[in-house]
Amino acid sequence: MKAVILVNPYLNTEAERYQPRRIAEELSALGVSVCVVPNRWTAHTERDGVAEALSGAYDFCVYLDKDKYIPRVLERQGMRLFDRASAVEICDDKILTHIALAGAVPMPRTYFSPLCYKADARADGAEEAGRALGYPVVVKECLGSLGQQVYLAEDEGGLAALSERLKLLPHLYQEFIAESAGRDLRAVCVGGEVVACMERRSEGDFRSNLAAGGRGIAREATDEVRALCRTVCERLSLDYCGVDLLFGKDRLLVCEVNSNAFFGGIESATGVNVARAYCEHMVRVMRQ
Ligand SMILES: Nc1ncnc2c1ncn2[C@@H]1O[C@H](COP(=O)(O)OP(=O)(O)O)[C@@H](O)[C@H]1O
Ligand SMILES: [Mg+2]
Repeated sequence: MKAVILVNPYLNTEAERYQPRRIAEELSALGVSVCVVPNRWTAHTERDGVAEALSGAYDFCVYLDKDKYIPRVLERQGMRLFDRASAVEICDDKILTHIALAGAVPMPRTYFSPLCYKADARADGAEEAGRALGYPVVVKECLGSLGQQVYLAEDEGGLAALSERLKLLPHLYQEFIAESAGRDLRAVCVGGEVVACMERRSEGDFRSNLAAGGRGIAREATDEVRALCRTVCERLSLDYCGVDLLFGKDRLLVCEVNSNAFFGGIESATGVNVARAYCEHMVRVMRQ
């Protein structure tokens, strides 16, 4: 079997290069020949041509990028992607994720900001969300990661300023889960099952992302964690993902889902070989 690993062309840190390197090593150990290719196709027609060439040359694609357009083109050419294009798309956008999971798993109460297309308009909708949710309010841009596009509005003034700043970008307002301030759970799932779980803790910030200074501590995945993750993976057709869970008063809440979660941090915290688990899953699926 032959696999292509597509990576974002702007990768430059060691942490970013770790993921494709480990996947390539583990796939090779399973007898798959592997090529790592930067996802660098500019014109659409050219993309389709490249996609055709790629799908002719490889049996499957490990998609480690976040670009949600190229997966559509690749699937149109018959390529099996890990993760699938629809899963990449839904996870890329926090509002789409919320809509897809609504009613299936508990999540913090959430309001979507109305989309604004006029730079000179006054931001609308935040005041109502603030009244309904109570302060502080968590504000998230729909496209974002590593905690960098997640904010906390302490009061009405702070929320108004944030919503004005973000009005031209899709974003949401969310209930602040106080019990979870500075801590959450990250569960990495392969084929719908949790393979590694850690608590992330941050001092001095409500966001516990490792990239923002959070620390990972290995945790057993409880039945509650496993059941929530199974539902998430099934709903979104995910082969691989990292699910963020918040500690609510009396139950866990799904915070967000990452189709291409970095696994270096959770491997260090838990000692689990996530790369191997993912590669074994891909080979099993492709041999079915
Ligand atoms: N509603 C919330 N209440 C409390 N903390 C939150 C809430 N939403 C997010 N957080 C914290 O912020 C972090 C980043 O938010 P998340 O939605 O996962 O965005 P990102 O894609 O940037 O990781 C979470 O890991 C969690 O620690
Ligand atoms: Mg997150």
